[in-house]
Amino acid sequence: MPGRRDACLSLLASAALLGPGVARAQERFSLFVGSPEFIVDRMVKLAQLRDGDVIADLGSGDGRIVLAALKAHPNVRGWGVDINPALVAQANASAREQGLGDRARFYHRNVFDADLGDATVITMWLFPELMRLLRPKLLAEARPGTRLISNGFEMSGWEPDFTDAEAGRVLGWIVPARVQGAWTWELPLGGTPQRYDALIEQRFQMIDGICRVGDRRGLFLGATLRGDAVSFSMDITLDKVGLMRQDFTGRVRGDRIEGTVKVLYRDGPDYDKAVTHPWHATRSPTSGYFRPTGLVK
Ligand SMILES: C[S@@+](CC[C@H](N)C(=O)[O-])C[C@H]1O[C@@H](n2cnc3c(N)ncnc32)[C@H](O)[C@@H]1O
Repeated sequence: MPGRRDACLSLLASAALLGPGVARAQERFSLFVGSPEFIVDRMVKLAQLRDGDVIADLGSGDGRIVLAALKAHPNVRGWGVDINPALVAQANASAREQGLGDRARFYHRNVFDADLGDATVITMWLFPELMRLLRPKLLAEARPGTRLISNGFEMSGWEPDFTDAEAGRVLGWIVPARVQGAWTWELPLGGTPQRYDALIEQRFQMIDGICRVGDRRGLFLGATLRGDAVSFSMDITLDKVGLMRQDFTGRVRGDRIEGTVKVLYRDGPDYDKAVTHPWHATRSPTSGYFRPTGLVK
């Protein structure tokens, strides 16, 4: 899309004019080019704003993205931060002029110092270096499920969850919950509580896992993580119970996962019977996965 491409090129060209000193000091970088109107519209649409959302623009410039979002959605609040105080003043003045002063606030602040705690949508049009430098903050401080929307620039190896083909390169990510590490839970199967020791590996929204139950081990199948929603299946054979398929779905709440597991018996007297149990997992500092097994019987 030519308008979109021109805007990106103009941002990059302006940076080049500022010379290599700028590249060494991305944090203080303060170039302003406003997103073209149709891109602003597409970013707001891609955010799929709902009542109660809080939209934040990191490097908010003249405030156009937040103000457009608030105009289209009366029950949404928003804020922005920018390194350039004149732009912050302009954005706050525009908010007042457009009757949005009670729902929009712009702060003179470095994006690295922004408090992301209340944002449910975060928009950005920042240089790729700045996006990369911001990535750990976004992953650590934005709440799981927060939608990140970028005008054009990528997140350096973090694949987008969604894109807007019509607008060219408006990209979206959903901040994943942090699930990397050891988790444990119990399920009442075969008349006794069975202890599960799982290990989850995570790269952004991609997860994989393995689990030990007694002296048996199983692989997570089809594991997904979208915001705080986690799901996976396991085929596992338990002593005195037999082979079963287990489908886990839950929500990550910090160091807990709350959800359900559907157990489908593939062996024995309960063959083909499906039973659903509550599933409560907790993060564990050490993992029983590594307990000595001894010789396999
Ligand atoms: C390309 S403009 C985008 C403005 C607006 N988000 C839009 O899309 O119309 C980038 C903005 O980020 C601001 N900026 C750059 N580095 C920043 C930093 N470290 N902290 C805060 N703002 C920054 C610039 O002053 C500029 O207004």
